[in-house]
Amino acid sequence: MRRPVIAGNWKMNKTPAEASALVEELKPLVKEANCDVVVCVPAVDFSAVSAVIEGSNIHLGAQNVHFKDSGAYTGELSAAMLKESGVEYVIIGHSERRQYFGETDATVNQRVTAAVKAGLKPIICVGEKKEEREAGYTDPLVAYQTLIALTGLTGEEVSDVIIAYEPVWAIGTGLTATDEQANETIGVIRKAVAGQYGQEVADKVRIQYGGSMKPSNVKGLMAQPEIDGGLIGGASLKAADFSAIVNFDR
Ligand code: PGA
Repeated sequence: MRRPVIAGNWKMNKTPAEASALVEELKPLVKEANCDVVVCVPAVDFSAVSAVIEGSNIHLGAQNVHFKDSGAYTGELSAAMLKESGVEYVIIGHSERRQYFGETDATVNQRVTAAVKAGLKPIICVGEKKEEREAGYTDPLVAYQTLIALTGLTGEEVSDVIIAYEPVWAIGTGLTATDEQANETIGVIRKAVAGQYGQEVADKVRIQYGGSMKPSNVKGLMAQPEIDGGLIGGASLKAADFSAIVNFDR
């Protein structure tokens, strides 16, 4: 019922020339995908990547957005700037932003609000650290992160956002949550959404898994009923790996 969405998070990788080369290579490999395909690229690559993906089934995403419309916020980008650059999706609240750049649940909510207002689709990242899982806090933590991020949105707006469940201990580590762990925690997130916005909205929200997703584990994860796609870091930087993930159902 929910169309899967597979998004690459390139992080701070690929110059404009490297970015064009990667999407050129990717384009034919993913053209028959049965899911939404997104590449979230560094802002300096927007124009190079847009030129290559025009008319294809690959959609452009960004990795962050500021919450103000404009003003004295050196180094930041507004939702309108992203929109006019052809961006459709934007990652918000990635654990690296939370860890290294002081992102909080409150600023995540402000960014989500700005993105939705501008017509961008947010990919909202939530997830627990290793010690939080070990202490048994995973469920209330991800539910809390999710509900704070969505505060102020209407049910209709919520039904259109994407949430990425990314256990922090699985990002870039080669460790993956088991299929069952990922499914269970994503179920907790969906239940939290249902509690606040109703089951109908919760049934529409697409919730991805992220954290060392790769060609060898995508099938098992995607076979889980709650998992609607993936947010892919390392493996999105190679056309062969990313396309194998996108084509998980072949
Ligand atoms: P990874 O990154 O696939 O390299 O673990 C995922 C992410 O950070 O979104």
